[in-house]
Amino acid sequence: MATIADLVKDMTLEEKAALCVGAGPWTTLPIERLGIPEMTVTDGPHGVRRSEDVHTFVTKSVPATCFPTAASMASTWNVDLIRKVGEALGEECIALNVDVILGPGANMKRTPLCGRNFEYYSEDPYLAGKMAANFIAGVQSKGVGTSLKHFAANNQETQRSTISSEMDERTLREIYLPAFETAVKEAKPWTVMCSYNKINGTFSAENQRLLTAILRDEWGFEGVVISDWGAVHDRVEALRAGLDLEMPGPRARHLKAVIEAVRSGSLSEAVLDHSVRLLLEIVFRAEGTKKGGSFDVAAHHALARKVASEGMVLLRNNGVLPLKNQRNIAVIGRAAKEAYYQGGGSSHINPTRIDSPFEELQKLAPDAHLTYAEGCRQDETIDQALIDEAARNGRSADVALLYLSLPASKESEGYDRPDLDLTGQQIRLIKALTAIQPKTVVILNNGAPVVMGEWIDGTAAVLEAWMMGQAGGGAIAAVLFGRANPSGRLAESFPAHLADTPAYLNFPGENGRVRYGEGIFIGYRYYDAKQIPVQFPFGHGLSYTQFAYKNPEVSAKTFKDLDGLRVSVDVTNTGQVAGQEVVQVYVHDHKSRLVRPPKELKGFAKVSLAAGATKTVTLNLDFRAFAYYHPSYQQWITEDGEFDILIGASSADIRCSQTVTLQSTLALPSILDRESTLREWLEDPRGMSVLAPLYQQINEQMTANFGGNDREAIGMDPMGFLLDTPLAGLFNFLGDVIPTSPEEMVDGLLAKVHGRAG
Ligand code: BGC
Repeated sequence: MATIADLVKDMTLEEKAALCVGAGPWTTLPIERLGIPEMTVTDGPHGVRRSEDVHTFVTKSVPATCFPTAASMASTWNVDLIRKVGEALGEECIALNVDVILGPGANMKRTPLCGRNFEYYSEDPYLAGKMAANFIAGVQSKGVGTSLKHFAANNQETQRSTISSEMDERTLREIYLPAFETAVKEAKPWTVMCSYNKINGTFSAENQRLLTAILRDEWGFEGVVISDWGAVHDRVEALRAGLDLEMPGPRARHLKAVIEAVRSGSLSEAVLDHSVRLLLEIVFRAEGTKKGGSFDVAAHHALARKVASEGMVLLRNNGVLPLKNQRNIAVIGRAAKEAYYQGGGSSHINPTRIDSPFEELQKLAPDAHLTYAEGCRQDETIDQALIDEAARNGRSADVALLYLSLPASKESEGYDRPDLDLTGQQIRLIKALTAIQPKTVVILNNGAPVVMGEWIDGTAAVLEAWMMGQAGGGAIAAVLFGRANPSGRLAESFPAHLADTPAYLNFPGENGRVRYGEGIFIGYRYYDAKQIPVQFPFGHGLSYTQFAYKNPEVSAKTFKDLDGLRVSVDVTNTGQVAGQEVVQVYVHDHKSRLVRPPKELKGFAKVSLAAGATKTVTLNLDFRAFAYYHPSYQQWITEDGEFDILIGASSADIRCSQTVTLQSTLALPSILDRESTLREWLEDPRGMSVLAPLYQQINEQMTANFGGNDREAIGMDPMGFLLDTPLAGLFNFLGDVIPTSPEEMVDGLLAKVHGRAG
């Protein structure tokens, strides 16, 4: 058997260049004379969208299980379940002859207006990273590859293929990269798909820093980088940057450019060889998994139902749910008959079957009388007659169940959302119903938050059912009737108003750029810091039982960052029925040199508890749980000091806490320079010791210069003024007291700080 190295040697330049561009929309180039097979990739992420003919672009896709979308999956907070979804997808890929599934999507939900948020997990990088890693691990355990996408900072659809996402380094590192980093380090995806957009002016596809320096050199990625479909502009530059496979293909002009660049010596053949080697590795790895056969349609449908039911978030409940013995049930809304279970665009699945929400209700309440009214037209026009009909049904019923789905015009891949509102007709419908039927339950099918201030007060309950996958209709019925106890928790904040959202003033950008002006403050990080009330906070979700938190413990009150910290708490189901609780651990830093969010999620666990049962939940917090990215050191750093470990049921419902002291093991080099202020010198341990002999003198002289200790003389606190003055500026004030020029003085001190002779 020829080794990969042999094959690379045997391939012609033309073959190598051609292997690095797709042979068609979904396949790579087979090279028969060398025994190199074709590799097939398909979308993703919540189902296998395999065209009947993978060699042509748009053909009907073959039936596959449509699992709930990522927004729903993340709301389960159940990593084991997401891993099972991955395994099921792997099995379907095998049956459908697919080598790599294009997903998961690990982009952050910077704004709820992003049309594609349903395909992404969360506004929190920790949660999104864990979800992505488990999805990947599940798929790849079957010998099928994944493509972690869209790397990186692809947070809007407006001008998605040209926009430049402009942000500072810390924001990139702390918010937009970590979910990818976790997934790459923990689950080793076979491939990573670069995004369409630019980051700070450079297309992701041609971004050497992103695709090589960070992804490969820092994180140790060993797989293949694929382009998003059509994301490559300059094929030669993309190869240099580390983009191995351009999709789709063929691209005769790009191929020619690569061949010419190698011939002319402007592109080293070694660069091409490297990409070819990586590609051949996964092509043969994929070939090693025998394809064909069938998958268990019924079992996967059941799994999709379980995920849908665990992902549903009971947002509000005044006691009407779970339904009991209601004889007359008014079912209202098209979404009750036509399940709205997935979003538009490349992730669109041809499902194996679809549960009708209405029929599933009837199955669970065979003796109840169910009426149906359409409530809304398919388009967004107002139709009072439909509202009147629905109200008539609602008035005479014991309870009204209002199924509302967002129309595709309000969310999809390819364009952003115009607003966060339901349609005008839907809002009128809710108001008409709640005015005459106090037991009105709103069931929402959507991929991203809607605002509710205008209508929520009159409702008896609101269930966020998401784009819930093909089995979601049954999952809704199970939750409404209490056959399933809701255990979903929001993986994103539900804002009260669009204008409250973090990126509001910086979205969708202009002149080809979108400025990430809110920096590291997205989602709850922002609402917490600004103390802006939200409709429902990150992590929120109700249950039909209650949970009590007791005995919070930490493994040490004082600990070293590298040792990490073990946190535990006893959780008791104090209600009458079994249920699942999501224990969330947030970290709050008391004091840091750079600004930090008030709290950040660093651990979570979902536990099942029978009524009355107690379990001890234990979580480990590692170095990164306490660290932040410091752009001057170009690394994640920890600082000595106190942290609160906040244990709760949501970001706004902290049940207990512990305060601990961290000892940093980092020996950081000093970052003092000519412009560093007195404050920075005093805060820097090296700087402080070097400056100490002079400090007394500076202090006395400056106090004298500023009118002694008489603050009134200059109307300010002299020390406050001095602290933010660069050292050279202070020396300037000292005049002849110092022997050399202020700049020379500072340079001399800096030489000592940095260990240079001087
Ligand atoms: C999307 C990707 C998708 C690809 C192939 C692109 O437009 O952004 O997520 O995998 O098409 O369909």
